[in-house]
This record gives sequence, C-alpha cells and structure tokens, in this order.
Amino acid sequence: MARTDADTWDLANSVGATATMVAAARAAASRRPRPVINDPFAEPLVRAVGLDLFTRLANGALDPVDLDGNLGFPRMIDTFAARAVFFDDYFAEAGTAGVQQVVIVASGLDSRPYRLTWPAGTTVYEIDQPQVIEFKTSTLSKLGAVSNAEHRAVGIDLRDDWPTALLGAGFDADQPTAWLAEGVLIGFLPQEAEVRLLDNIVSLSGDGSRLAADYGQVAGQSEEAQQQARAMTDRWRDLGLDLDIAALTYPGEHTDVAAYLWAHGWQTVTSDLAEIFTAAGLPPLGDAGQQAPANSIGFVRASLG
Ligand SMILES: C[S@@+](CC[C@H](N)C(=O)[O-])C[C@H]1O[C@@H](n2cnc3c(N)ncnc32)[C@H](O)[C@@H]1O
Repeated sequence: MARTDADTWDLANSVGATATMVAAARAAASRRPRPVINDPFAEPLVRAVGLDLFTRLANGALDPVDLDGNLGFPRMIDTFAARAVFFDDYFAEAGTAGVQQVVIVASGLDSRPYRLTWPAGTTVYEIDQPQVIEFKTSTLSKLGAVSNAEHRAVGIDLRDDWPTALLGAGFDADQPTAWLAEGVLIGFLPQEAEVRLLDNIVSLSGDGSRLAADYGQVAGQSEEAQQQARAMTDRWRDLGLDLDIAALTYPGEHTDVAAYLWAHGWQTVTSDLAEIFTAAGLPPLGDAGQQAPANSIGFVRASLG
C-alpha cells in the first residue's frame, strides 16, 4: 500500500514490519556458529510481534537454504550483522571520546539501550512511532531487560516536531551527542523530511557531536533493483509474509547524508557494505556487493569539531 503523509504503524505492518525483519536477522546472526554480534533480545522481541516468517527466521526454524541464499535479499543475515557491528563500534568510539548523550532515531527493535554497556553517566534517548516505542518498552520490561544507561524513550513520528518532544524528555543541546539513524534514511522518509531531520540534528548538535547513518535507497529505481525488490516480495509471499518493502519507500533520489554533513562543516568517513563486512570479520560480500540493496546504500560516521 502506498505511503501517506500521516500514516502510522505497529511492528507487524507497514514500515514497522521492516524493524521486525531487521531484528529477526540480528537474531539469526546471533545463532551463527561464530557470531559477529550477540543480540539476546532480538528473538524474544520478534516472537512477541508474532509475524510467523520472521519468528521462524529468528528462532532457527527456517530452512537454512532459505536463510542463506533464498530470501531474495543477498547475504541478508550478514548484511544486518555487519551493519550492527559498524554502529556498535561507532558507539564504543563515541563513549571512549567521552560523549554521554546518545539519540537513536527510528530505533525500531534495536536493543542497544539494553544490549550495550554504556559509560557511566550516559543518557540514551530513542525515537520511533508511539506504537513501536510502547511495544518494545513493555516487551523488554516483561523480559526483565535493564539498561545501564539513563534510558528515555520518545514516541513520536519523525515527520512531526520531534525536537520539541526530545527536549521535553530532557535532551541537552549544549552537550555533545552521538546520534544514530540506522535503517531509516534509505528511503523510508519523504526527501523533505530527511532534510528536515538532518537540519534538526545539526541544530541540536553541540561541538564534539557525532552522527552515524546508512543512506541511499534500499529499493533503487534501476530495472535491476526493481527486479530484485519484486523477487524478494514474491519469495516472502511464498513463505507466508505479505511485505512489499519497495512500496514502503519513497521513490527517487534520497539525501546523500555524508555530503549534507560535509557541507555543514562536519568531518565524514564513508564506507560501503563490502568494507563493513570486512571490518566486522565476515566472509567477503563478493558478487552480492554489485546487487541491490548493497550497491545503493552507503554508510557514514561523522563528527563536528
Ligand atoms: C528498517 S527499520 C530500522 C529499525 C532499527 N533502526 C534497526 O536498525 O533495527 C525502520 C524504522 O524506522 C522507523 N520509522 C520510519 N519512518 C518513521 C517516522 N516517520 N517516524 C518514526 N519512525 C519512523 C520505523 O518505525 C522502523 O522502526
């Protein structure tokens, strides 16, 4: 179904289901013989959402043939594992540099507030749609998950006035902040909302702030990318899930986040997916790097001052 200006969702439908997909991939990655990540909250969170295909992906019930080569998304499990490692490392560096304020936008079922050990004195804010935040917070609370940071979850749409909500939750714009936008600036926001999001982040960032993100278009416009997206949708439908990721994205060019930040005086370091595979210690991405979505997504770590 096409996106609309004020559409909402939970974790079982629309863009919310993509958060469940990514968490299911992290759960599957955590079950690998030599895992590069360990996300113990991913599987119970995915199970609680209740989408059968993702539950089977998360709990190991899916046929390994489907898992590794037949989901219509080349190297899917490793892709989300590599991405998780890349951003985990980013937070470790920010903590070492003394940054004690963290904001994770579009946090979905990311369990980092609970999964990572934060330096003493850290406050971690998360922003996502209200239904997503409520579901994750209550499910993790039932699981007994505890964050070692001061954790504040803000349920608001990123197309709305989230800076006021964040400031209302105690965010301090005078402190350096480590921002994370993982899996959202890849087509899930309208282009003008992407720029507004980045404008707001820049204006809320004191000296010493950082930002990490992936960016581009998960469902590119090229014939090859469209074909790839259709293959994935069809394969998932065969496996019992009706989720058309391409239809959930806004078509067209999306913001080059690294170029945007550079133009605003931030230092930027970019990587492609093949590089973050190598950095995570995964087997090389190989030919999958020439295909969508690998060839249409970039990764950036940026800092101010
Ligand atoms: C692919 S998921 C990524 C979730 C998480 N960052 C991760 O990597 O596991 C995309 C997330 O973006 C959130 N999102 C997309 N558009 C949003 C909006 N307009 N307002 C708030 N959240 C949004 C969705 O709810 C979803 O949790």
